[in-house]
Amino acid sequence: MTHAGRVKCIYIDPPYNTGNRDFIYNDRFINKEDGWRHSKWIEFMHRRLILAKDLLREDGVIFVSIDDNELFHLGMLMNEVFGEGNWISTMIWKKSYGGGAKAKHIVGLHEYVLCYACNKGAIETIDLPPSDEVRRYYKFTDEKFAERGPYRLQPLATTSMDARPNLRYSVPFEGEEIWPEKQWQWAKERALTALANNELSINKTKKGWSVNYKQYLFGSDGEERAAKMYSVLDGPYTQAGTGEVKDLLGDGKAFSFPKPSNMVLALLRHLHQDKNAVVVDFFAGSGTTGHAVLKLNAEDGGSRQFILVSSTEATDEEPDKNLCRDVCAKRLKRVCEGYGGVGGLEGGFAYLRIEKMEPGRLLRRLQHEQVWITLQMLHLDALTPEAPGGIVWAAGEGRRRLIYLTQTNEKTWGPLERALEENRRATIYTWQPELVKHHAPKATVRPIPKFLMERLGIHS
Ligand SMILES: C[S@@+](CC[C@H](N)C(=O)[O-])C[C@H]1O[C@@H](n2cnc3c(N)ncnc32)[C@H](O)[C@@H]1O
Repeated sequence: MTHAGRVKCIYIDPPYNTGNRDFIYNDRFINKEDGWRHSKWIEFMHRRLILAKDLLREDGVIFVSIDDNELFHLGMLMNEVFGEGNWISTMIWKKSYGGGAKAKHIVGLHEYVLCYACNKGAIETIDLPPSDEVRRYYKFTDEKFAERGPYRLQPLATTSMDARPNLRYSVPFEGEEIWPEKQWQWAKERALTALANNELSINKTKKGWSVNYKQYLFGSDGEERAAKMYSVLDGPYTQAGTGEVKDLLGDGKAFSFPKPSNMVLALLRHLHQDKNAVVVDFFAGSGTTGHAVLKLNAEDGGSRQFILVSSTEATDEEPDKNLCRDVCAKRLKRVCEGYGGVGGLEGGFAYLRIEKMEPGRLLRRLQHEQVWITLQMLHLDALTPEAPGGIVWAAGEGRRRLIYLTQTNEKTWGPLERALEENRRATIYTWQPELVKHHAPKATVRPIPKFLMERLGIHS
């Protein structure tokens, strides 16, 4: 409701439906003998993927972890929901180095991560910042053109492309005409411009001439040259994830098979250019995705946000279980604040609970707090820890000042005037916009959004 079309990246790691107490459907674990096992999983995922697509921005992407139990069903579902044309990659995550004494035939060392775009046409590339390893290739600099930064040399000639007559020409250098063995990679004009700009490096060798172009680490926009993402993630291995949760919570059994945060981080690194991205994971489990977002922000000073959703994992057998509070939120709090000698990564989060409501209940007793949280999610970067109370609820500063009027009558105008004092251009939400406009002519006055009224069971 508040984030449709606003999410840049979704990572999910749904229950794999192994038949071994990992998938809860209608409050029961689904076991291997259940004849409707796959149908139930498909139905369950289909509804969630449709919602996921709705959340994504046009240039957003989704990564879904899966193993062999449901790989083929998931692939077909993803094609159905996102469209075959938006498939980007079926990635491999190598999750262990060996072992598998129990395997009957072939030892499985990997899982998959399916990657789809919301709209592939809206994405230029999915790239990564250059690693230190890549940076090391850029070992030359020109003294005369130091501002161009480091570069590496790449051969201008090629023998591997199909023959194209326009790529076969001579490059003039020190009174000679240099011909390629087969052809150059660039059209003549581009090569001659590069030559004039000192962006070619030409040297005499025993066999003749070698012509290289200078590939710079920084593009003309000042951005570092990006590296492409590979379809194989070689580790980190599963045990790294288990170890992390054990270190953080002091309990190795708090959660089975959490992903290693560096595995999710490897996927999220493609957000290197988007420092304000919103990342969603609606199978949050132990909160690995939040951990990875916090790590990425700590690495590059970003302020990306995460929205994690987790079930409590309460079942008929364990009705009081609350995984979300006791594992996920607890872990993230420790990651932010530091634990056992490890420094905090900073950042923070709000912990909200979904309330199941009887249809129409709010008609009788409207919960202003729920309206307030929704409005803040639409307008502000952070939620106020407690609802302000009174008639005029306000948060945020300057142009981002947000005001919610719980009532509109004579008692409203005095407090509203005070709330607007230094923030005349605030956005005010009210149940009676026409009336409020007279009292706050400079502010943006809006009605409570229709979709919110519908969710609250109020029909105008
Ligand atoms: C594979 S785990 C996710 C692990 C997570 N990526 C991590 O690193 O901690 C799958 C999650 O799906 C949740 N799950 C299982 N059945 C569910 C259901 N019916 N609705 C919502 N979540 C469910 C489980 O509670 C579990 O946390």
